[in-house]
Amino acid sequence: MPAGFQQLGGETVTGTFVLSVFTAVLGSLTFGYNIGVINAPQKLIEEEYNATWIHRYGMPIPSGTLTSLWSLSVAIFSIGGMLSSFCVGFVSEWLGRRKAMLINNLFAFIGGSLMGLSKLCLSFEMMIMGRFIIGAYCGLASGLTPMYIGEIAPTSLRGALGTLHQLAIVTGILIAQILGLEVLLGTEDLWPILLGVTVLPTVLQMALLPFCPESPRFLYIVRCQEHLAKRGLRRLTGKQEVGDMLAEMKEEKRKMEMERKVSILELFRSPLYRQPIIISILLQLSQQLSGINAIFYYSTSIFLKAGVQSPVYATIGAGVVNCAFTVVSLFLIERMGRRTLHMLGLAGMSICAVIMTTALALLDSVPWMSYISMLAIFGFVAFFEVGPGPIPWFFVAELFSQGPRPAAMAVAGFSNWTANFIIGMCFQYVADLCGPYVFLIFAFLLLIFLIFTFFRVPETRGKTFDQISANFHLRSAGGMMDMDLDMDLDKPCTELDYLGDESIN
Ligand SMILES: *[C@@H]1O[C@H](CO)[C@@H](O)[C@H](O)[C@H]1NC(C)=O
Repeated sequence: MPAGFQQLGGETVTGTFVLSVFTAVLGSLTFGYNIGVINAPQKLIEEEYNATWIHRYGMPIPSGTLTSLWSLSVAIFSIGGMLSSFCVGFVSEWLGRRKAMLINNLFAFIGGSLMGLSKLCLSFEMMIMGRFIIGAYCGLASGLTPMYIGEIAPTSLRGALGTLHQLAIVTGILIAQILGLEVLLGTEDLWPILLGVTVLPTVLQMALLPFCPESPRFLYIVRCQEHLAKRGLRRLTGKQEVGDMLAEMKEEKRKMEMERKVSILELFRSPLYRQPIIISILLQLSQQLSGINAIFYYSTSIFLKAGVQSPVYATIGAGVVNCAFTVVSLFLIERMGRRTLHMLGLAGMSICAVIMTTALALLDSVPWMSYISMLAIFGFVAFFEVGPGPIPWFFVAELFSQGPRPAAMAVAGFSNWTANFIIGMCFQYVADLCGPYVFLIFAFLLLIFLIFTFFRVPETRGKTFDQISANFHLRSAGGMMDMDLDMDLDKPCTELDYLGDESIN
């Protein structure tokens, strides 16, 4: 075996491949960082808004206005993500996966700079604009990263590598939590740096992307550039003989060409796609409506009740559990499968939510219940990262063949961000209404998602994209669609490219 090549899960992994995956997940890291960064400096930023108001109008900011400005600064991030996640399909087809990621970095750069400079310019408008633009970046990154990684990954490693997206997100959240500590950047003078730091991974990704090959699957299937696709495959696999992989793509392309071009509307109309698109949406909802963000929101006050001196550190502890169990999932995913892990995660979260509610309700009469509730929180986070955290991101890309994939990713991304936004806006109100019993709602939702997964979600581990979609074709049309498979429908462009390629060899 040549030097610099590593065996991983029976696959030979090249330096180029590792570089490409690493570069892609820098986008997920930035995404996670911006989710986590906004909580710690809340008080500081609010004081800054107040100071700006006094500077401009000569009087302190009315507290209602401050609350609105702050909520807007937080929520506009999800709106940016919602809008841009809808464009993932279009942008990734138009520019290609790699160039789309490259250009997307401009958003992160502009957004990060606006937020970092807002204090200097005494402008909360800049802060809000910056949050919107960085949200737009994150929406695109949350679609482009799993798409690119899913397309360049060998079948046997697709799940494990897909989990890396989530691992990078939670690592980003953890880094943001740590940097946000008062001893580091969480101070009156340094918080602009805390928000501006997000440009660093962005610049690194921009510098590295030119060395990563474009997704061969995209080049071959969408652009008909067999020669370039072959070159990309050779660079990624380190093998000269890439015939097997090309044959698999050819098969996928051949079947794709029998499908008409799929718009978002058709995803819902066509019986071929209705089943997988409903599964995709429900998986995204199971991630966001599981209450994970609510837990992160609520954890500080629960840790306070449990008598933890600095609840900030307990929250960071939850962040560490978050990362650790994402790694666990990474190792389990190709052994146990997506379906099993997702169900395990949902069931575990549901049970933890019930335990936590019980413990919180008994807190006043039984003091040691606070520790039970703390354990339940850690358990809740751990089970989230086993299944519902990482799996929905890459599962969508697995359920669809190349033709409908971009539209499906857009719909899934949009559902995810919308649910995220709804939780962000409504949780506080509902929590005020129901007190600790709010988590029973999540326990119930989790149970519904569990039942749905059990009856509807197929296992995709170790199957090629082609086999997965064939499975749905069979189910929806009772086998009718598969009669077409023997027809020869190679497009002229395939043949031309093929000839061109042969003459070069
Ligand atoms: C704004 O700052 C002023 C002066 O420092 C202070 O009296 C007031 O309470 C602050 N308002 C809010 C809503 O924090």
